[in-house]
Amino acid sequence: MSFIPINRPLLGEEERAAVEDVLASGKLTDASYEGGKYVREFEGKVKALLGARHAVAVNSGTAALHSVLMALGVKPGDEVIVPSFTFVATANVVLASGARPVFVDTKPDYNMDPREFRRAITRKTKAVIPVHVFGYPADMDEIREAAASKSIPVIEDAAESMGATYKGTQTGRLSSAGCFSMYASKVVTSGEGGAISTDDDELADKLRLVRNHGMVEHNDSRHLGFNYRLPEMGAALASVQMDRLGGFLDARAKNAKYLTERVASVEGVSFTQKSGDRTHVYYLYTLYLRKNRDRVLAALHSANVGSAVYFQIPAHKTQLYARLGYGRKVLKNTEAASKHVISLPVHPGLSEADLGRVADGFLRAAKENL
Ligand SMILES: Cc1ncc(COP(=O)(O)O)c(C=O)c1O
Repeated sequence: MSFIPINRPLLGEEERAAVEDVLASGKLTDASYEGGKYVREFEGKVKALLGARHAVAVNSGTAALHSVLMALGVKPGDEVIVPSFTFVATANVVLASGARPVFVDTKPDYNMDPREFRRAITRKTKAVIPVHVFGYPADMDEIREAAASKSIPVIEDAAESMGATYKGTQTGRLSSAGCFSMYASKVVTSGEGGAISTDDDELADKLRLVRNHGMVEHNDSRHLGFNYRLPEMGAALASVQMDRLGGFLDARAKNAKYLTERVASVEGVSFTQKSGDRTHVYYLYTLYLRKNRDRVLAALHSANVGSAVYFQIPAHKTQLYARLGYGRKVLKNTEAASKHVISLPVHPGLSEADLGRVADGFLRAAKENL
């Protein structure tokens, strides 16, 4: 029986044609302030989706987050508040800026707890980065309100949430800047890639500078920056993928509905990401298992179902952060989530038969272990 991966990009003839067009043109990248033809085309589609004034394409979600911190001037001595239940990139960009990540706990829906954020604010706080974990929007009203009371910029880590909405507004448009990833597993992909959305003209200008070693004219650097440019082949791919986003989201929603109907009410299992005021894009379909998570995971792997655990180690407990002294902090919900969650395949490339196998495999594993 073939292995069902936890994630697989859906790529077709249109993606192939777009990449071949770049190859035929010989213009693989464009080291200008504005970027190449496909970079601008892709940025236009991100802007249109979000209704944002600016979109800036970069070569990873990490680069997107780092660019925003650079553009905002986050520096040594500053603190940036982040969740620990996230991919480690959210915190690494803070360290890379010379600042201190301040880790806060999540709610049972896996997103940043706004009350914990409020409690963590100090005079050194220079930004907060809520993450829309698994593609489910965080409590943005509460986070924005707490941040605004202290004039702290909010940066969304929307790496996993392209297309998700919160009270009718797209994620990435709910803050000073929204950062997307187009890594191979993501809702829209370019293999590696990222994008930033903002309504702030000055910030957008700085982000374009950071992406291109601070250059507008060749070789004259106006601002500290890096090579964070998205290559044209990636931009062409992502541009086609943007056109398919609606279809991808429908398929993810349909797959999630099927899984919920079949597995979410089993004894010992709970599904916690649902609220009427926001939409979930199901980058990952994640269940909370009261016990024996690792046994269920092993049983699913034996059944060739590629389930996985995100995030097995809270960021502040990874070796790097433990070595830096962050690991002693107790974040109850974060640590519980890391011990108890499991994600099942939900991507749009799944056939009906695949989905049936995922659900059957899970029910069997649950019956034996929960
Ligand atoms: C929550 C989160 N933040 C940041 C990133 C970093 O994105 P990238 O891998 O494109 O650098 C990812 C994805 O990998 C992510 O899931």
